Amino acid sequence: MTWLVTGGAGYIGAHVVQKLVDAGHDVVVLDEATTGTHRLPPQVTLVQANLTQNQTLHRLFNDYDFQGVVHVAARKQVRESVEKPLFYWRENIGGLTNLLTAMQVHSVKNLVFSSSAAVYGQPQLGSDAIIAEDAHCNPINPYGATKLAGEWMAEALTVSDDFKVVALRYFNVGGAGNANLGDEYSYNLIPIVFDALEKNESPIVFGKNFETSDGTCIRDYVHVEDLADAHVSAVEYVSAAEPKFTAINIGTGKGSSVLEVMNMVAKVSGIEFEPKFVQARQGDPAALVADVSRAKELLNWVSQRSLEDIVRSAWLAKNP
Ligand code: UFG
Repeated sequence: MTWLVTGGAGYIGAHVVQKLVDAGHDVVVLDEATTGTHRLPPQVTLVQANLTQNQTLHRLFNDYDFQGVVHVAARKQVRESVEKPLFYWRENIGGLTNLLTAMQVHSVKNLVFSSSAAVYGQPQLGSDAIIAEDAHCNPINPYGATKLAGEWMAEALTVSDDFKVVALRYFNVGGAGNANLGDEYSYNLIPIVFDALEKNESPIVFGKNFETSDGTCIRDYVHVEDLADAHVSAVEYVSAAEPKFTAINIGTGKGSSVLEVMNMVAKVSGIEFEPKFVQARQGDPAALVADVSRAKELLNWVSQRSLEDIVRSAWLAKNP
C-alpha cells in the first residue's frame, strides 16, 4: 500500500520520503517542487501540483489506493505569517481542507500531520522549561494558529468519520541526511549563522537577558533524520490505531542556548567569531523544550543524534 506525502520534495518532506522508502513503503509525493526534484529517490512518483488544485487531488486519490497521508506541505515562516496572515490561512488551512475533503471522499482515514511547537505560543513554564502535549495551546502568530486550527479540523474527523490522526509537533529542526537534502533556505538559527559567516558578518543573538543559564534563548534542536524516523513510527502507529487524535512532541527533551549553538558552529566550521547581541525578538519565549515521554511511549521513538550531529551535517550539506 502506498503513502501520499504532501510537501515531499521540500527539506523535511524529502527526509521523510527517504526514510519511508528505506522502511519498505511505496510513496507518492504531491509537491509544487519549486526547488527542484533532486531530493527524491528514483522509485518515488512526483505529482507536481499544490493543494489548491482540487481536480488533480481527486484524480490522484482515484489513481492510488492510499493507505494514508503524511501532510508536510505548508507555509512555515513565522514573520511572513504575521505580514500575510490571510495567505497563511488560505495556504495552510485551505490546503488542508481540500486534502481532508479528498481523503473523506475516497475513504482514506490515516493522517500524520506536521504540526509545530508554535501551537504552544509563549507558555509559562517551570525552571526546566519542559512542555507536554496537554499544555494549554495559545499560539502567538498566524503560523502557529494555522497549525493549531489544522489539528482541530483533523481531530473533528476522528469523531465524524473515524479518521485516525497523529499530529507531530516539531520543535527546532536542523541538520541534513546527506549533501542533497540540506535546508536551502535561511529561515532558522543554524542556516542564518552559516549565511552570516559566509558573508563575513557577525551572527546576531536576539537578546541576552533572558532568565536562562547564559542569558540567551533555549530551544530543543532535533535532527531532521531523527524527525524523519519519527514519521516512519507515526505511520505505523496511526495505521494500527483506533479512530482518534493524538498530538506528539518531536524533540530531544534537552535544550541548547543560542550561544551553545553558535559555539558548536565555531567548533564544526573552524571559524572563530564574535556574535553581535541585539534586542530580543518580539514573542520569543525564553525557553521551550519538549517533554518527549509520549513519543517514547506511543511511537517507541527517541532522538539519537546530538547538537553536534545537527550542526556538522548541516555544515557538510552546505559545504560539500
Ligand atoms: N535567533 C538568534 N539569531 C538569529 C536567529 C534566531 O538569536 O539570527 C534565536 C531566536 O531568538 C531563538 C532561536 O535562535 O531563540 C531559534 O530561532 P529560530 O528562528 O531558528 O526558531 P524559533 O524557535 O523561533 O521557531 C522555530 C521554527 C518555527 C517553529 C518553532 C517551534 O522556526 O517554525 O521553532 O518551536 F514553530
